[in-house]
Amino acid sequence: MTDNRVFIFDTTLRDGEQSPGATMTHEEKLEIASMLDEMGVDIIEAGFPIASEGDFRAVSEIAKQSRNAVICGLARANLKDIDRCWEAVKHAKAPRIHTFIGTSPLHRAIPNLTQDEMAERIHETVTHARNLCDNVQWSPMDATRTEWDYLRRVVEIAIKAGATTINIPDTVGYTAPVESADLIRRLIAEVPGAEDVIFATHCHNDLGMATANSLAAVAGGARQIECTINGLGERAGNTALEEVVMALKVRHDIMPWSTGIDTTKLMNISRRVATVSGFPVQFNKAIVGKNAFAHESGIHQDGMLKNAETFEIMRPEDVGLSATSLVMGKHSGRAALRSKLKELGFELADNQLNDVFVRFKDLADRKKEVYDEDLIALVRQNEAVD
Ligand code: KIV
Ligand code: ZN
Repeated sequence: MTDNRVFIFDTTLRDGEQSPGATMTHEEKLEIASMLDEMGVDIIEAGFPIASEGDFRAVSEIAKQSRNAVICGLARANLKDIDRCWEAVKHAKAPRIHTFIGTSPLHRAIPNLTQDEMAERIHETVTHARNLCDNVQWSPMDATRTEWDYLRRVVEIAIKAGATTINIPDTVGYTAPVESADLIRRLIAEVPGAEDVIFATHCHNDLGMATANSLAAVAGGARQIECTINGLGERAGNTALEEVVMALKVRHDIMPWSTGIDTTKLMNISRRVATVSGFPVQFNKAIVGKNAFAHESGIHQDGMLKNAETFEIMRPEDVGLSATSLVMGKHSGRAALRSKLKELGFELADNQLNDVFVRFKDLADRKKEVYDEDLIALVRQNEAVD
């Protein structure tokens, strides 16, 4: 196992696209896959080949076009799904089959399998996948609500049958960070053969803990994080790729693990995924929200003008933005106004600045945001009065 390297497994095109209303066209999927590949994503889960002809074609073509990333397809625990998945991913330089089955009591009740029958099914399907492909990922869906003894037993079966990555999904976003770390730690310590595979974490955000749970799992020994751009995914979504990647970069001092992501490409891909999925990014979303690097209050703007580190822990350039934005509104102060006017080409004497500031505050009380054009108009009005 690579000690300090954490692999980034992006599932925007599979779990992300499962989000109701987030369907992407074939061309859009190819475009997003190529952006992910260029950005340094290690594994791209390109789709669920048995789900539809369209998904099969998308996974096959992404497999053919990809230059660096491992291309993975999803399959349920049956031979037909796995064969179809292999037919799609086999074109990739580095293909992976990802097969899964729900192992918690609630999920076992759906196919109505006993623990032993399910264990047998896992052995059979993982063995089959491994006979086709030497890179096989196995997931016990709803792992975090599966009885510990049964989870340990089925993970061991999957490893013995040839799985090379064991993914531990928190399918309904139920786990908490301490549990997330403990679960991975215990599996690695107690399952025979665990040292020969990579453990992955796959978190959903139902309680808003997906990023924290993913990072905790890494602290527990996981070395693959499954995530999506903008946290796209069913219900409250999946772990957001940009959040875990930037958290590992910015807090490398206490989380000493690295990814291969070129973070300067984050903003661009975030915007593209928002457009093609039709899911806008909330303004205050960490890392890629419109306001993530914007400051309006006077104290913050003044601090930023003196030293950007006062109110920013990341440089906007690191995520692909050209600069911090100082938004002019009713909370802005004189220093920000002076700086903004200078940017617009106006160097005002103190008394002129005072006059414009009074007019600016009056306008800001009536308008949510004061734009550059508004400021220019205020300066012109002031010149006319003078
Ligand atoms: O959330 C989940 O359990 C999944 C599995 C298919 C891995 O997406
Ligand atoms: Zn999922």
